Amino acid sequence: MTENKNINIGTKSVWAGEKDYLVHGASQVPVVHSVAYTYEDMDEWYEVATGKRAGHIYGRNTNPTVQAFEDKIKILEGAEAATSFSTGMAAISDTLSTLLVPGDRIVTIKDTYGGTNKIFTEFLPRLNIEVQLCETGNHEDLEAEIAKGCKVLYLETPTNPTVKITDIERMARAGKAVGATVVIDNTFATPINQNPLNFGVDLVIHSATKFLGGHADALGGVVCGSKELVEKIYHYREINGATMDPMAAYLILRGMKTLHLRVKQQCESAMKIAKYLQTVDIVEAVYYPGLETHPGHDIAKKQMSGFGGMFSFAVKGGVDTVRDLLPQLKFANRAANLGAVETTVGPARTTSHVECTPEERAAVGIPEGLIRYSTGIEDVEDLIADLQQAFEYVAQKNSVKL
Ligand SMILES: Cc1ncc(COP(=O)(O)O)c(C=O)c1O
Repeated sequence: MTENKNINIGTKSVWAGEKDYLVHGASQVPVVHSVAYTYEDMDEWYEVATGKRAGHIYGRNTNPTVQAFEDKIKILEGAEAATSFSTGMAAISDTLSTLLVPGDRIVTIKDTYGGTNKIFTEFLPRLNIEVQLCETGNHEDLEAEIAKGCKVLYLETPTNPTVKITDIERMARAGKAVGATVVIDNTFATPINQNPLNFGVDLVIHSATKFLGGHADALGGVVCGSKELVEKIYHYREINGATMDPMAAYLILRGMKTLHLRVKQQCESAMKIAKYLQTVDIVEAVYYPGLETHPGHDIAKKQMSGFGGMFSFAVKGGVDTVRDLLPQLKFANRAANLGAVETTVGPARTTSHVECTPEERAAVGIPEGLIRYSTGIEDVEDLIADLQQAFEYVAQKNSVKL
């Protein structure tokens, strides 16, 4: 299937990108485990090796199963090209390493995923790359910093874990005005809910480990954008070696066939649970862009077709309440992951921002009692009942003064 604009995203999720990789009449893309590819004809080998002819040489560079995954996500994001990685963090670090050299300046937000934030606060500064961290959601501040000049503008919206929203179109305009490459982490939104390339962004990154794969059984990352930019990043990755494994590519590709169904269910359920949580005494605050009370709600409505399956909430009593509450949940994995078919919960202090100190977390508005909730595809009535019995347990135990 090619990038036919008249075909809807669900049909694309099922069919896109696979046809060229089917062999022997099989209806499913095979997992090609071969490390290298053999050639009888030395001239053909040379032509493939030097990029003059399509084909595969060595698994660190390309692989047919991995390419099928790249083709599918490329079509879902409406991009010209995509290249994949062993993890989401590899996608982020290789993209930044391709784009930035010592002396450059990058503008970003304070609320990026904890691992990404470490690149900004620890790794880039030691390469003499100036990092300007702006208050997430403060568009004027971002615009002012961008206007001073920057090579890269890096965004994430919604953010992990407090689901803060940035206006993509407005920021892309500001970035383009100074010639910056605009990069966005679209992991939380997924291509079902948000296509940043439509708003003028240059590169879209996903941790494919999360919603794309959706079954918490494969690690991966990907970057989508123009052929020119993606080829540069691919070149860095093929040498750097953070290659996606063919088995992971197969699992993620299979998971993506149900992406639209999973995400639709997760959006619906997340909205219902977020509304329920607003009625619970022990809950201090609920962070979900679908709620009208969320400061980024109007922007989210403008740029997202669904508000996503991720939200977070803060409980009274902080860590003590979290310690009592979470083990009571029957239908949730307490794990450092998200975007899976099973509901997954965890405090930010042990998941997204485990790398940060309590002070660093506080500085970006993450209370120690914040619980990140990744809504699964279970029946939402059961998820709400599960939360309810856990809250009742905590109230009865009276471990906190409510
Ligand atoms: C928004 C976001 N981006 C990137 C990553 C990194 O992905 P990975 O764990 O696949 O390296 C994560 C991981 O949680 C994430 O939540």
